[in-house]
Amino acid sequence: MSKQRVLSGVQPTGNLHLGNYLGAIRNWVEIQQEYDNFFCVVDLHAITVPHNPKELADNTLKMGALYLACGIDLDCSTIFVQSHVKAHSELTWLLNCITPLNWLERMIQFKEKAVKQGENVSVGLLDYPVLMAADILLYDADKVPVGEDQKQHLELTRDIAVRINDKFGKKKQPILKLPEPMIRKQGARVMSLTDGTKKMSKSDPSELSRISLLDSPDEIKRKIKKCKTDPVKGLTFDDPERPECNNLLTLYQLLSGKTKEAVATECQDMGWGQFKPLLTETTIEALKPIQDKYQEIMDNRDYLNSLLKDGADQAAEVANNTLSRVQNALGFLTVDN
Ligand code: TYM
Repeated sequence: MSKQRVLSGVQPTGNLHLGNYLGAIRNWVEIQQEYDNFFCVVDLHAITVPHNPKELADNTLKMGALYLACGIDLDCSTIFVQSHVKAHSELTWLLNCITPLNWLERMIQFKEKAVKQGENVSVGLLDYPVLMAADILLYDADKVPVGEDQKQHLELTRDIAVRINDKFGKKKQPILKLPEPMIRKQGARVMSLTDGTKKMSKSDPSELSRISLLDSPDEIKRKIKKCKTDPVKGLTFDDPERPECNNLLTLYQLLSGKTKEAVATECQDMGWGQFKPLLTETTIEALKPIQDKYQEIMDNRDYLNSLLKDGADQAAEVANNTLSRVQNALGFLTVDN
């Protein structure tokens, strides 16, 4: 039996933080052997908010290097850049024309991001989830491993697929496959280091709010030293009055590889003065192999570029097939007609 297909992606906006890693990429790595995987660097999504053209190409390449450094295995996974496979933009247009506007206006992430953009909200930002739907549907993905914040976008993707199938497909022969979100309980929502009620995010203006995968040991030490805590002694999971405590314990649990029970017992009598150095050391140790591998890959950019090119060729083969299927169903004139 052939393996089920997985697709996921990250925007190449600067560095990856612990939320991206623990909520998404680490899970990709853990499950990849069981699936046939496509992981894309979603550069078209990165321009839906104002971006710096001088940095886009470099950030895209770095994200590809980070995927590999985190442990993506090319024997079972394909890594590629979204804009290198033209079918993503093309399918987005077709999906745009069948997606009701009010489905997009309801998206929580759009509303949150639009507030930050003020008068400059682009059509692209509103359309972001349709492009994401195209990313997923092009590969007939069965599973989409993401963090909790993407759940609504996944539901929209399914709604769009159902609409296309209902309007243009035959009952027994759906045009598009309905994907399932794959959201892990632990790490699905890593919170900010400066406010345990807010998600860790690339767009937070404060660097102190997040730990990036390429932060130096000194930066990690400084950020954890300054992170928000509370005056209570004894550390516990799942206390709604102590969001920072739950978040920091979860980080420790995931980065140390220990079970939740083991961490709960280990930390139940600890104060922050004892816990913070422990978390610092664990984080530095967990990130070191990724940082070393990243350096190695970035020292060999030609290899990285050629691998992304091969990835785009492989991805295009699958994506173009799906695009043709949708074009045919929608009634377009084909070249050989
Ligand atoms: P991006 O780059 O914003 O986030 C990439 C991944 O990181 C997860 N994530 C988090 N997980 C836990 N805690 C956090 N604080 C946290 N912050 C981010 C996100 O859920 C995501 O899995 N729209 C996508 C990119 C995308 C995509 C796709 C994903 C474009 N096309 C197709 C899957 C399939 C995004 O949020 O990127």
